[in-house]
Amino acid sequence: MNTLTMQSEKCVFTGQTKTGKEIWIRYPSVMDVADMWSYINTISNERTFVRFQGEAISAEDEKKYLLSQLDKIANRQSILLLCCHEQKLIAMASIEMQSRTNQHIGALHISVAKKFRGEGIGSLLMQSAMDEAVKRMPKLEMITFCVFSNNTVGRKMYKNFGFIEYGVLPNGVKLEEGYADRILMYKPIKKCER
Ligand SMILES: CC(C)(COP(=O)(O)OP(=O)(O)OC[C@H]1O[C@@H](n2cnc3c(N)ncnc32)[C@H](O)[C@@H]1OP(=O)(O)O)[C@@H](O)C(=O)NCCC(=O)NCCS
Repeated sequence: MNTLTMQSEKCVFTGQTKTGKEIWIRYPSVMDVADMWSYINTISNERTFVRFQGEAISAEDEKKYLLSQLDKIANRQSILLLCCHEQKLIAMASIEMQSRTNQHIGALHISVAKKFRGEGIGSLLMQSAMDEAVKRMPKLEMITFCVFSNNTVGRKMYKNFGFIEYGVLPNGVKLEEGYADRILMYKPIKKCER
């Protein structure tokens, strides 16, 4: 049996996508490192709307990332969720608390494997990630991230979830084929008492 089906890590969602695929969303364990490594390298190679644009991520770096995330999850500084279908890792999302003057801000990252996009998985994962972040990270007052201006699906999804565009860095994204603007977005979670 594949390690992904043997996990006893906390499951936060089970259900079906718009096309009827069974999926489950859960926290990771150290046993997920190989699947996560393969997943992130595939996304990097795709050169899609994420920071990695073809760079190879080493197994060692992925292990360091996962171990540090597990530590942060235990200390309520991060949530990291994996979405699985059959024996495959098909999407990931994290919301990680920032530090010092940004200690009330959670930074969001999300991606869905190419073959599984457009059937509601990103939205289901986003909902689970926000629910878990609110439940587990009491210091969270807002969620922020940035999106490439040409990422129409991403921008639509974030607006559906009440994210607000608060700024634009012109040419803030440099890609092989040219530039895109960097759109800054946020969602208030709690009222910030001044
Ligand atoms: C952005 C991403 C996470 C969204 O996940 P997804 O599973 O594809 O999104 P969903 O199927 O939940 O759809 C989200 C919204 O976009 C719309 N949408 C999805 N695919 C679409 C398409 N091809 N064209 C137009 N709209 C589309 C959906 O209709 C939905 O809106 P609705 O609920 O109002 O109908 C995913 O596409 C992805 O990983 N993209 C590459 C990496 C990336 O962009 N990461 C985010 C970086 S900020």
